[in-house]
Amino acid sequence: MFAARNVVRRLPQRSIRRWAHTQPTFNPVTEQDIARFQQILPASSILSTLAPISTPVAELSNFNNDWMNKYHGKSTTVLRPCTTKEVSEIVRWCNERGIAIVPQGGNTGLVGGGVPIKDELILSLGNMTKIRSFDPVSGIIVADSGCILEALSEYLAPHNYIMPLDLGAKGSCQIGGNVSTNAGGLRLLRYGSLHGSVLGLEVVLPDGTVLDQLTTLRKDNTGYDIKQLFIGAEGTLGIITGVSILAAPAPQASSNVMLALPKYENVLPLFREVKRQLSEILSAFEFIDRRAYELAVKHGQGRALNDEDVEGAECFVLVETSGGKREHDEEVRLKRFRLLCNILTRTQKLNGLLESLMEADEPLINTGVLSQSPAQFSQLWAIREGITEAVSKEGKAYKYDISIPVASFKEAVDKTREQLRSKGLLRDDAVKHVVGYGHVGDGNLHLNVVAAAYTPEIEAALEPFVYELVASYKGSISAEHGIGVMKTHALPYTKNPTSIEIMKRIKALFDPKGIMNPGKVLE
Ligand code: FAD
Ligand code: MLT
Ligand code: ZN
Repeated sequence: MFAARNVVRRLPQRSIRRWAHTQPTFNPVTEQDIARFQQILPASSILSTLAPISTPVAELSNFNNDWMNKYHGKSTTVLRPCTTKEVSEIVRWCNERGIAIVPQGGNTGLVGGGVPIKDELILSLGNMTKIRSFDPVSGIIVADSGCILEALSEYLAPHNYIMPLDLGAKGSCQIGGNVSTNAGGLRLLRYGSLHGSVLGLEVVLPDGTVLDQLTTLRKDNTGYDIKQLFIGAEGTLGIITGVSILAAPAPQASSNVMLALPKYENVLPLFREVKRQLSEILSAFEFIDRRAYELAVKHGQGRALNDEDVEGAECFVLVETSGGKREHDEEVRLKRFRLLCNILTRTQKLNGLLESLMEADEPLINTGVLSQSPAQFSQLWAIREGITEAVSKEGKAYKYDISIPVASFKEAVDKTREQLRSKGLLRDDAVKHVVGYGHVGDGNLHLNVVAAAYTPEIEAALEPFVYELVASYKGSISAEHGIGVMKTHALPYTKNPTSIEIMKRIKALFDPKGIMNPGKVLE
């Protein structure tokens, strides 16, 4: 039924993304609508530049502009409901009136999905923050979709559980946003994707109907698994109001080590070796190229490694272990993984593993830094997690979040840099850096081009170049951030026409008027 995946297609380039002509037209929010919203919500839950609310435009700025300040909307009205019933009543009204809605969580998305393209109404979930239930035996937590990811982690900690996902934006992103983007993050290697750990959802459909699939069952094999459609739908099929998710038992012992590699080519053999030796206690294997590391350090993310640890390194790998028993992990680390510990502490002789690695033409690692305390553990993670912020402090980031074979990570970064050089754009007042980092364990490279400003010229040099490059590797143009508004035109590089047609039919089935987050995911 499905056509063969992935042929390289040359698509028309767009520097300005707007709704395609196929998008329906929508009605703006009016003062009459505000009067209706005042019947549904308390005044404190409504921000609007319209009378009688008359909020100053500046107060809507955080809702109209995205985290990177790259995408800008012109919404007049932000509604902040506290309950599913309120969400349902708002959506029912908007559906009747033909008003488009943008669901918004923590607004940390990196593809412009959570901000309006024009003047759509913003429905912010930030006031929906109740934890509805937690079962300490099964580890299943049911929460409002507006709960901040970090708040859920803090809630679970005393119960010895952790959330099955973690990302640098944890202090602001919401679980509903995480589910809507199918966020990957730093724990995917260990705990898998949200398609596995989300057990149930409560969703307000585009006509206002509440779809209650908030089950806490581990097993439920009763036909089509409808909730899966909302995981990664980026708010185009409905508004998630409640999430049931399986938390993971908190590891009793965690450790990490930052390894400095003399050359990129060593990443894959190292990954193979680390997996072989650490097996079930390996919980993260994250890649940072030299320039990404330098940016993180320059902008104060984590604590810089010593010069001697950095010298001669082309890239770094952050390895995390976590397990159920400290003695077991230490045994694994110290006996089975003696290579790293020996090198890192530089106190013991290299063992057989090290010998075998050194017998290779070139050793896989130069050196490394092993955390010796919780503070050091966090500092090493802060380098990796802080790259996103460092990049955005350094300039304007063109962020490509791609799935390609790990062996091609460096080539993709190099080819992109070369493309920009060939266009004469690799200079301080245009493109300052091309960096790569990401989740090696998941085959996910974050290719970031850091520029002095967002310009049509740079974008034209990057697109469709990057997408064609991805397609040439038979990769995905979005590994974990989603499509948002940034990549709607590029979807065919990864999805074949049959798949896109089915997506459109699903969208039409749930949202025949197209009011839910128009212009996102599908053109
Ligand atoms: P928003 O940005 O508000 O929205 C994202 C999308 O989901 C939009 O399309 C929006 O309409 C929709 N949406 C939000 N809430 C709902 C809802 N309740 N119902 C329906 N639709 C909704 N992403 C990763 O995958 N992995 C990472 O490691 C990662 N690290 C990051 C680090 C930093 C520093 C930053 C700034 C971002 C990072 N991201 C990462 C991207 C982002 O944090 C995630 O996509 C996150 O899941 C978005 O959550 P949010 O609540 O901020 O959603
Ligand atoms: C990350 O892995 O750090 C995030 O996905 C954010 C980013 O790509 O910058
Ligand atoms: Zn990531």
